Amino acid sequence: MPSVALKLTQEQAQAQKPVLRVEDLHTYFEVRRMGFFKVGDVRALDGVSFELYPGETISIVGESGCGKSTLAKTILGIHQPTKGKIYFEDQDLSALNKEGWKQYRSNIGYIMQDPYGALPPFMSVKQILEEPMKINGIKDKKEHARRIRQVLEEVKLAPIEDFLPKFPHMLSGGQQQRLVIARAMILEPKMLIADEPVSMLDASVRIEILQLLQGLQRRHNLAIIYITHDLSTVRYFSERIFTMYGAKIIEKSSTKALLKEPLHPYTKALFEATSDPDAENLKTFKDVPVGEPPSLMNPPAGCRFHPRCKYMIKGLCDKEIPPEFQVYEDHSTACWLYKDKERA
Ligand SMILES: Nc1ncnc2c1ncn2[C@@H]1O[C@H](COP(=O)(O)OP(=O)(O)OP(=O)(O)O)[C@@H](O)[C@H]1O
Ligand SMILES: [Mg+2]
Repeated sequence: MPSVALKLTQEQAQAQKPVLRVEDLHTYFEVRRMGFFKVGDVRALDGVSFELYPGETISIVGESGCGKSTLAKTILGIHQPTKGKIYFEDQDLSALNKEGWKQYRSNIGYIMQDPYGALPPFMSVKQILEEPMKINGIKDKKEHARRIRQVLEEVKLAPIEDFLPKFPHMLSGGQQQRLVIARAMILEPKMLIADEPVSMLDASVRIEILQLLQGLQRRHNLAIIYITHDLSTVRYFSERIFTMYGAKIIEKSSTKALLKEPLHPYTKALFEATSDPDAENLKTFKDVPVGEPPSLMNPPAGCRFHPRCKYMIKGLCDKEIPPEFQVYEDHSTACWLYKDKERA
């Protein structure tokens, strides 16, 4: 596995080929009455595009139900996209056969949102780490032992021999999450999707786990998608931050630019106190604007945020869907307030 001593700068990362490219991705779930009559679709992902580069972390933030996990699961192939394309290192995923999918999946580590459902209760640590290798045709026992030793050392579950025979219930919450990360890394992936990896853990353990992920990224030039509600962690952890609202990405920015000046009224509300260098002063999702998140079955016309937006322009925001305006080189937003502020 390649390893780098230092983290790449954003410019260095983006000078490389993207590891992942998502184009106009849509994922709809059919809603049926009495399991029979189709009454509509939940548009859980509604036109999402971005590129992810080797060695960078993108944080994805947004309220509950805005489509973050659906994005993760669609990239992983757990959900079939309704429309749009996903490219992994220029390979169109829709063109892959069964073997190609297996190969692709081995390149992505996944830390799922539900920590309780993540680990099989009747398998030992050793079995849990061996299983992905067996599924992927790695038969050499010596190679199994080498990889297991390496990942357990990396996630700091030591002494290794003590942990190998243990079952998940014998581990603390933090140790279980370390094991989940070890399993995600066992196939030496190029990319990691971490869906709320620390939300269920105590504050003291959270920092340790995030530092652990950061260390893995540096050593392996991993590309990471970090999904979170926890705004206090994103500034330390990511090169770019995307805000999702109502199944769309409404703002994409370098972390530096976003903390200096959030553009979209929704992101502004989320990150209001960001000029304060103390992360503790960042606001949380409790401070989001009044009103309900939009229905994804019958989303409002125009900008999905307009019913909650104090800057709403009548006749425009409530009628036309805003396109993505590139306001700065490293900062874009889908908001009509910026239609005359695009860079030349
Ligand atoms: N398998 C499914 N079938 C039908 N609807 C679904 C399915 N998975 C998700 N949804 C719906 O899609 C929308 C987006 O859900 P998703 O889980 O992606 O949100 P999220 O941003 O991850 O939320 P949270 O922060 O609570 O984890 C929600 O309305 C949800 O009810
Ligand atoms: Mg989720």
